[in-house]
Amino acid sequence: MNMFRFIIFTATLIASAAAAPAKLDQRQAPAGVPDYVLKYAPLVWLHSAEQYFPSDLQSQLSNTIPRVNFNAVAAPNPLNLTNLNALGADVYLTSKDDITTNPQWIKGVKPDGAAKTQNAITAAVIVNDKGNGNVDAFYMYFYAYNWGGEVLGIDQLQFGNHVGDWEHNMIRFESGTPTYIWYSQHANGQAFKYTSVLKDGLRPLAFSSNGSHANYAIPGTHDHTIPNFNLPGGVLEDHTDKGALWDPLLAAYYYAYDAGANRFAAYGGDATPVEWLYFRGRWGDQEYPTSDKRQIKLFGQAKYSSGPTGPIDKQLNRSNVCPDNGNKCILRTILVPKRAGDEVVEGL
Ligand SMILES: *[C@@H]1O[C@H](CO)[C@@H](O)[C@H](O)[C@H]1NC(C)=O
Ligand SMILES: *[C@@H]1O[C@H](CO)[C@@H](O)[C@H](O)[C@H]1NC(C)=O
Ligand SMILES: *[C@@H]1O[C@H](CO)[C@@H](O)[C@H](O)[C@H]1NC(C)=O
Repeated sequence: MNMFRFIIFTATLIASAAAAPAKLDQRQAPAGVPDYVLKYAPLVWLHSAEQYFPSDLQSQLSNTIPRVNFNAVAAPNPLNLTNLNALGADVYLTSKDDITTNPQWIKGVKPDGAAKTQNAITAAVIVNDKGNGNVDAFYMYFYAYNWGGEVLGIDQLQFGNHVGDWEHNMIRFESGTPTYIWYSQHANGQAFKYTSVLKDGLRPLAFSSNGSHANYAIPGTHDHTIPNFNLPGGVLEDHTDKGALWDPLLAAYYYAYDAGANRFAAYGGDATPVEWLYFRGRWGDQEYPTSDKRQIKLFGQAKYSSGPTGPIDKQLNRSNVCPDNGNKCILRTILVPKRAGDEVVEGL
């Protein structure tokens, strides 16, 4: 990093450390969820300019129709979280509205003053107990829409917008003690030692970037290179800061995951829907063809790309803290901003 960036970075860290942390202790978790999974759960700072907040899972189903290759397919009606698993892996939950009209439902629910998304289940906590005290807890965050950002801040050079957005933190525990935390960022992410990250009490802080919701360990500006397109750093950036605080635990479903059987079980009994977790299709529209007037493709990158797969596709039984994606897994012990040079080792 250059000196200017270093000064900004240092100042940001000092400012974050000085800000009085909110004390958030109230949790709505069913019986049986390991206490440490709650006690050390991340808190998420959304960006101050965020337009696309965390969103209710059922709302995504209510506002989309299942399509394969852009054609509607037979599906349970109404679609809900207990019948979603009837759909195949080739299905795209496709917006009923033209998303370029920015319909209200894609904007999600801004957390209230108590950091809760009211009347919206916006997160899923998935606990993988591997035995011998080794537990990975996944904190899955759902947003109805991903605004991809602008190259060089130019409105016409926008890409990577998509309907549906799943992001996550994963905390690795050893006998109830948090050791490492993973922050998902686009196709990859960053791993840090638990003791290294910023916290509110025991709870690590995640900073969700404006629009794209990539999770960073610090506020500031983060380079985000374009896959297969070697642009200089800083051309496309993620921005994080302390806008609205979101406590995902306050409106979440909680599950245990059995990797051997590839099964999920809800904590809290039958009131919690489980079937949706087996849906292997996409939570948003399929990438529009260039014949669609909404679409622009530049150097192979689409303005509107396909929606993501759900939690079952996030390597819930990974052996490293990082998912296995061909990139080196660096377990960082110091907080550093994401810079273009990082891509040399981490890829994207
Ligand atoms: C934040 O995202 C919105 C679109 O969702 C965009 O209009 C705005 O310019 C972005 N601001 C920053 C600081 O990134
Ligand atoms: C979902 O719809 C099915 C019918 O397809 C119904 O039996 C079930 O109760 C509904 N589940 C919820 C959570 O509303
Ligand atoms: C899950 O991960 C553990 C530890 O990495 C491994 O021993 C086990 O075989 C994995 N289970 C499955 C079903 O892949």
